[in-house]
Amino acid sequence: MYNNIPVNKEIITFLSSLNANCGFIDRMKINFRPLICPMRDLLKWADGANSVLDLGSGSGQFCALLSRYSNVKKIHGLEINQELIDNSIQLLSGIKNEKKTLFSLYDGHNLPDYISEYDVVYMIDIFHHIPKAKQIGFIYTLFQKMKLGGRLVFKDIDRGSIWVYFNKLHDLVLSKEIGNEISYNNAILLVKEAGFTITQSFKRQIYCYPHFFLICKK
Ligand SMILES: C[S@@+](CC[C@H](N)C(=O)[O-])C[C@H]1O[C@@H](n2cnc3c(N)ncnc32)[C@H](O)[C@@H]1O
Repeated sequence: MYNNIPVNKEIITFLSSLNANCGFIDRMKINFRPLICPMRDLLKWADGANSVLDLGSGSGQFCALLSRYSNVKKIHGLEINQELIDNSIQLLSGIKNEKKTLFSLYDGHNLPDYISEYDVVYMIDIFHHIPKAKQIGFIYTLFQKMKLGGRLVFKDIDRGSIWVYFNKLHDLVLSKEIGNEISYNNAILLVKEAGFTITQSFKRQIYCYPHFFLICKK
């Protein structure tokens, strides 16, 4: 399946073709995020899954890609920002297929019990937006709530890289906040301590962004 996913240029054309009645910044993030965040690569860890939960789904761009390019039948975006959920609902309404997609609001801390219904949970660049004091508890609770055998795809920005300051600048300009990034090494320790087994882990620099990927199993 993964080999059939088109290159970034086509993904961007697809996202740009979807309607979302949102502001300029959100529209730019929808259209061009695949240039700086490896969304195309992230899709491959949905292979074989029936259901996916995208934790911190933003304006729904990754859910839109799952709907268009994966075989996943049920896609659920979970967000703390109602405006982004509204963007997502509108964005996905332009994709006509049999897949079930839904978006839910939550408070950012009390993870819902229905997490246990999903085969794969994605966390794409949300960890560094969680307050530092809550980050460890968040991962421990996520482990408790996920189903046995479930996969966690944890992608974030490596605090251990000097390039982390570029991401901080990015967040300051676009989100008016300074991120709480964790280093790749500490992220590995954290998920292991929480109980996950790591099946794959690696770092990848894209332009000025030092990404890390942890593919974990409960
Ligand atoms: C950098 S954006 C990434 C959005 C999306 N995952 C993507 O890659 O396009 C970070 C998102 O995390 C959300 N967020 C922040 N804290 C969160 C939390 N505790 N739980 C879930 N989402 C959160 C924000 O509202 C924002 O949409």
